[in-house]
Amino acid sequence: MPGLIPRAFIDELLARTDIVDVIGGRITLKKAGREWKANCPFHGEKTPSFTVSQTKQFYHCFGCGANGTALSFLMEHDRLSFPEAIEDLAARAGLEVPREGGSTADPRDRQLDDLYAINASADQHFRDALRESERAKDYLKQRGLTGETAARYHLGYAPAGWDGLLRTFGSTDVGRQTLLTAGLIIERTPDAQRNMSAGHYDRFRDRIMFPIRDTRGRVVGFGGRIIDDGEPKYLNSPETPLFHKGRELYGLYEARQELRTISTLLVVEGYMDVVRLSQAGIHYAVATLGTATTPEHLSRMFRVTNDVVFCFDGDKAGRQAAWRALETCLPHAKDGRQLKFLFLPEGHDPDTLVAAEGRAAFETRLETALPLSEYFVSHLAIDVDLASVDGRARLAELAKPMIARIPDGIYRELLIERLARDVRMPATRLADLLSRGNTEKTASSNNAPMTRARLSTRPTTGRGSLISQAIARIVQCPEAAGAVRTTEALRMSGDRGLDVLADLIDTAQANPQLSSAQLVERWRDRAEHTRLTELAAAPLPELDVAAVSRELVANITRLLSEAGPERRWNELIALAESTGLSDEEKRELTELQKQRRPATPPTT
Ligand code: UTP
Ligand code: MN
Repeated sequence: MPGLIPRAFIDELLARTDIVDVIGGRITLKKAGREWKANCPFHGEKTPSFTVSQTKQFYHCFGCGANGTALSFLMEHDRLSFPEAIEDLAARAGLEVPREGGSTADPRDRQLDDLYAINASADQHFRDALRESERAKDYLKQRGLTGETAARYHLGYAPAGWDGLLRTFGSTDVGRQTLLTAGLIIERTPDAQRNMSAGHYDRFRDRIMFPIRDTRGRVVGFGGRIIDDGEPKYLNSPETPLFHKGRELYGLYEARQELRTISTLLVVEGYMDVVRLSQAGIHYAVATLGTATTPEHLSRMFRVTNDVVFCFDGDKAGRQAAWRALETCLPHAKDGRQLKFLFLPEGHDPDTLVAAEGRAAFETRLETALPLSEYFVSHLAIDVDLASVDGRARLAELAKPMIARIPDGIYRELLIERLARDVRMPATRLADLLSRGNTEKTASSNNAPMTRARLSTRPTTGRGSLISQAIARIVQCPEAAGAVRTTEALRMSGDRGLDVLADLIDTAQANPQLSSAQLVERWRDRAEHTRLTELAAAPLPELDVAAVSRELVANITRLLSEAGPERRWNELIALAESTGLSDEEKRELTELQKQRRPATPPTT
């Protein structure tokens, strides 16, 4: 496990980042007064209700309620994990992400570091060798690749011979062991008859090398293509601690380098296809590594975009692979996702096709790709006679178990609707039939339409609101913390909301330069984070720090004057319900009761 990302680094990163650049690089922002506006990327709209505040370093959509910092935006919009969002901003700012405790704290981390290092060295070694080899360069030229493309994909060459890597990096026991674990060399079993002793030899020999890089650009494994003919055509790294074939997507890192936003991912079968497409200007292709598409691949893709086109050769093997991919996709067919299937003319793969017809023609084909629902129905209908009632019933039967694997939602309904057309039955009736013997599904699909309940009910008056107002002021204007003398009294109350308020004020006082975004980011791992983000986004009535400070102090004064009696009141009520009250306590309760006025509506 990598160490924690130090808080100070996140502060520094946000200080060096402008949310307007980050978001403006992905959607078009228009200046509107002190803020920036756009059509919200998180929900469909025609008039812009998405605003970005440069001062707060925050975004907020008045339409759907989406809000957050530059980090939140990358997580939501680019579907990055938190560490990936950090990496992304760090790369922009030219900073290296430090890890608390260093990256070599854990022995397992040290092993991984060694493996990344040896892969990086091997990558360089192969690239140097390519430069030296006319034979390898000629092969790439003959395949139509330019030097620029080869450089972008770090293509290399593993020279013929048994010990190129071994001699360069395996002279020590440790070096040899690392090469072995990285799958770059193979252990030789001794063979007395052929007079061979135990030892090692290079896995990749006389092959064009394709390094496979992870989302951070680190080489995790290699694919090697034989030059000219021979078996196997492609040789891949074995499974290693860094490399899991069923997870990696070749070309995703390079696609991210090339494109600011990836709106569509094109999934192809081969390394060459990815590289050749990119050379033609289609930078959004990725390939699985000679394996069928796995659920891990799909979740990786859907973190990048909701729009995925699978591209297969038109031959039998291609069609089989496509149907397998469709089956894997079914449980992932969620609302908002677009899954399409493109079949190429027989005898072509993307590499040969784009070389023959160019980018524009190839992209025109993409537009004709079959939506999952079309491909699904037409494939199932191949073997049935839609003209007969029996045939149509058979089609429904075939579809039933597959439709059951699609999550409830619009996607599923649309698919049933599409199927109903061919079965010639009203969609509602088909839906009934399909869910027969599957009562759970019927129950949930009859539910009321989904509503997007983003904000739970919040107090809009009274004490809860008062705390919210104070918190909104401090998170939006951390400088106002300077006006608060001490947070001790807030902590004495034992109220969770006041504790959070006190923590926020203390943090802002201890770090007077913190922006709203930086302050809120410190709460990311705590339960209150979502609420703080919402409060940071809602507009404040005051316009300058002095006014916010004045209101904040007023909020706190009122909260404190209420806190003492309020707590005592609760204690007395609890006592009354358990052991009963003394006369003295009864009088106190009556007195408190008189003071308890209905909460004043908030001033905002
Ligand atoms: P293809 O046989 O379609 O090769 O394999 P290709 O990509 O068109 O390669 P070129 O154009 O002949 O150079 C598709 C993918 O299947 C995997 C590789 O990932 C390859 O890119 N594969 C293929 C292997 O892993 N091993 C093999 O022996 C063949
Ligand atoms: Mn090919």
